[in-house]
Amino acid sequence: MLSKKLFKSISAGALVLSLGITLAYAAADDVIKARQNWMKERAKALGPMVAIMKGEAPYDAAAVKASLDAVNATWEAVKDIELFAPDSAKGETVETFAKAEIWSDPEGFKAAGEAMEKAFSNLAATTDEAGFKAAFPAVGAACGGCHEKFRRPKG
Ligand code: HEC
Repeated sequence: MLSKKLFKSISAGALVLSLGITLAYAAADDVIKARQNWMKERAKALGPMVAIMKGEAPYDAAAVKASLDAVNATWEAVKDIELFAPDSAKGETVETFAKAEIWSDPEGFKAAGEAMEKAFSNLAATTDEAGFKAAFPAVGAACGGCHEKFRRPKG
């Protein structure tokens, strides 16, 4: 994994020497893919909690914890990447649905991210079904709240 990353940065370095601007585009594509993938993985990690919310699975504190751990793990996997780097506002070959407001309203974007963190930590603090069911909708609202302002709808 590490050597793969290293190789990538070496070849990217070679490219930038010969082509200059290409690196920014290639990197933007990588960043866009990383954040889209992160979002998808996180949505997947939430699955067991969504099932409990919908009544498709019984409430189970251990399952909730496992699901929250899985959500955290998706974050761990990308924490070294600047997922919304300014030069990733547009990709070369990858389409991004990130809106320009992310960069023109960084405070608003940050607040939307913090609302999500808070919703997750409130959820993690719950210990029973009633608490879980009362806290979960805030997570969905935080996802949706940011998407509404900062993501273009797909297709
Ligand atoms: C702080 C803002 C923000 C929050 C909070 C947020 N998202 Fe997103 N999400 C985005 C942006 C911006 C994109 C578009 C990324 C792109 O296309 O480059 C996106 C894209 C997505 C996608 C589509 C990924 C793809 O394949 O294109 C999914 C699925 C998703 N988010 C799920 C979630 C879920 C689930 C949550 C809540 C747990 C959430 N998001 C919270 C900003 C946010």
